[in-house]
Amino acid sequence: AADSFENGLLTGRHLLITAGPTQENIDPVRYITNHSSGRMGFALAEAAAEAGARVTLVAGPVFLPTPERVQRIDVISARDMLTACEAAMPCDLLIAAAAVADYRPEVVAPHKLKKDPANGDGLLLQMVRNPDILATLAGRPDRPFSVGFAAETENLLAYATRKLRDKNLDLIIANDVANPSIGFNSEENAVTAIDRQQHETRFGQASKGHIARQLVAFIAERFNHPER
Ligand code: CTP
Ligand code: CA
Repeated sequence: AADSFENGLLTGRHLLITAGPTQENIDPVRYITNHSSGRMGFALAEAAAEAGARVTLVAGPVFLPTPERVQRIDVISARDMLTACEAAMPCDLLIAAAAVADYRPEVVAPHKLKKDPANGDGLLLQMVRNPDILATLAGRPDRPFSVGFAAETENLLAYATRKLRDKNLDLIIANDVANPSIGFNSEENAVTAIDRQQHETRFGQASKGHIARQLVAFIAERFNHPER
């Protein structure tokens, strides 16, 4: 299968992919994260390498094998992920498949937090915004062809289109995470790609590997022929 897909669509191109969740520390033993499995991003990295790209995969904490011929950089937090991505620039294409934590605790407690009777039965954590990795890279003067994912549980296409605009992307891949049989922590996915002309292309339910190969072919086609 890999051989038949070895099509050179992305030969000589450097493709940067973010994948997985990030972890944001609360104290030395606790953190905040999300349910991202990293599988979609890793499948995209594998498919892009098969298409001839030089692939840098910046991965949050996941236990997945590194695809062949992919350079993997492991990170923990959103800020680490941004630093690693900036160090990997320049690239020709960026696919942001990571589920980046939007907020992190404002301070990381130096010692394990103890239950404090002064707080009653509650705990208040002050959170601050993390940097937007995709918007930051897509906003650079040397911006790559930039592809985002929009994970939504409602108003999927409207929210996705807004993200495409706000982050100055070339494509956004809309992903309905309310449906438990697809997306996030499942084996399969079904997505809709939206371009700057708001043209929608649907990729029906299939394994993440199959969706990844279809998406890489679609992204490469748009990258190679932007006028079409
Ligand atoms: N993203 C990113 N850095 C962040 C947040 C998001 O790079 N700090 C990227 C994701 O990898 C994804 C896209 O932006 O490709 C959209 O992520 P999503 O969480 O759906 O949207 P947000 O912009 O964070 O908006 P919200 O969560 O409020 O819907
Ligand atoms: Ca978010």
